[in-house]
Amino acid sequence: MKVTFFGHSAFLLSQNNVRLLFDPFLKENPLRAGLNNDVKADYILVSHGHKDHLGDTVELALRHNSKVISIFEISNYLASKGLTNLVPVNIGGKLKTDFGYIKMVMAVHSSSILDRESTLNGGFPAGFVVNFFGNTIYFAGDTGIFGDMKLIGDLYSIDIALLPVGGHFTMDTSDALYAVDMLRPKFVIPMHFNTWPVISADVNTFMEELKNKGIKGVCLDIDESIEI
Ligand code: NI
Ligand code: MN
Repeated sequence: MKVTFFGHSAFLLSQNNVRLLFDPFLKENPLRAGLNNDVKADYILVSHGHKDHLGDTVELALRHNSKVISIFEISNYLASKGLTNLVPVNIGGKLKTDFGYIKMVMAVHSSSILDRESTLNGGFPAGFVVNFFGNTIYFAGDTGIFGDMKLIGDLYSIDIALLPVGGHFTMDTSDALYAVDMLRPKFVIPMHFNTWPVISADVNTFMEELKNKGIKGVCLDIDESIEI
């Protein structure tokens, strides 16, 4: 499986010509100026309605006919923007797919959609547990630390955890370290840091601390991929 990081919380999983994209915030990411933002995906998973997550979903999904998986309220919003290849789900729901499954799990955050001058109800924020050709990936979305991460760790044997570490709007690195004890993943990739000064994080120290716990941490540069 190839994992590509596009900055912020945008990741692409690819294997066997299936491409699954999380939270495609590309064009307006200040760290992506001048980079290619046209990412083709078969599936787009949207964790919540904030624009640094919903991002370029409408444009990319219309261009590439990507199937968009999101909570009911966001799905309705996307339908109002002309998208038709939509699968609305809700917390706890599991969607069987050709590569495995997508399960929507809780995140402790907020969710609203800014649409021109109006703020729309984005439903609950979410994370995802994805089984992708046998690998289990936990994408936490935007979240503070919560005790049911232990439940997620108990229910799933997580290969890769994608965790926010920038603080201020989500967990910081010290909360993320505690989260790792509950989730017990093999691999951790940090996200949602350094996009703006308010969410700056010392990820090098975080990588060291993961190593001390015997967990592999990989900090990806923008547009960098790894094979796992
Ligand atoms: Ni958010
Ligand atoms: Mn965010």
